[in-house]
Amino acid sequence: MADNRLIVALDVHSMTDVHTLIERLGDSVSYYKVGMELFYRVGTEVLTYLHDQKKSIFLDLKLHDIPNTVAEGLCSLINLHADMLNVHASGGYEMMRISVERVHEKAAQDGIPTPKLIAVTILTSIGSDDWKEMGFSQEIRKQVIRFASLAKKAGMDGVVASPQEAAAIREACGPDFLIVTPGIRPAGADINDQSRIATPSAALQNGASHLVVGRPIRAAKDPKAAAEAIIREMERV
Ligand code: C5P
Repeated sequence: MADNRLIVALDVHSMTDVHTLIERLGDSVSYYKVGMELFYRVGTEVLTYLHDQKKSIFLDLKLHDIPNTVAEGLCSLINLHADMLNVHASGGYEMMRISVERVHEKAAQDGIPTPKLIAVTILTSIGSDDWKEMGFSQEIRKQVIRFASLAKKAGMDGVVASPQEAAAIREACGPDFLIVTPGIRPAGADINDQSRIATPSAALQNGASHLVVGRPIRAAKDPKAAAEAIIREMERV
């Protein structure tokens, strides 16, 4: 049943909660996202567990610092079984370029597969009022395309972006570029703190390659049924 384009956000606080959710979702989910909320609490144990369960892992730590620090930070994460790692595109071209170079070198040196490297464009929780309040006058959409093009030029494999910007990114960055979209809400679901959202099918139609879904699955009465409904919707596209 699993569809590797669906990534479930493991935004829980303990290994007990991880075990419970993974067991409940069973074979219906094959790809999980571990973010700072969980990783800062339980550390590498969750990655070993997911790897043992034969699940794919997106380690979403959103690194953002000077080029050398981010590149070395990524190299420190490379042996933790993550299939995908990320940085903030606002760290700049050189930060992304050096990260790609060092991660490729380190993976080759260690004889392990190179993880996909993607860049966060603009957080999906930021709406146009927040954006203006932060002092930016350029339209969010244009800035997202600019970050995505910069990430591509730096050799990154893709970006994290809102499903609402996926079509424009797909057009600018080509068919092989990964577009990972959080801010997914099935019709009628709670929006929570997200802002630039879309349904699973709309996100895929817009060109997303992967969907990150957290609360609509985790907070459902029956998380497995919620995941399977999303997968069925994805497969109809
Ligand atoms: O619960 P929900 O479906 O909103 O979860 C979305 C997940 O995607 C969260 O883990 C959040 O940190 C992450 N994310 C996001 N927007 C981004 C990048 C990551 O919502 N731009």
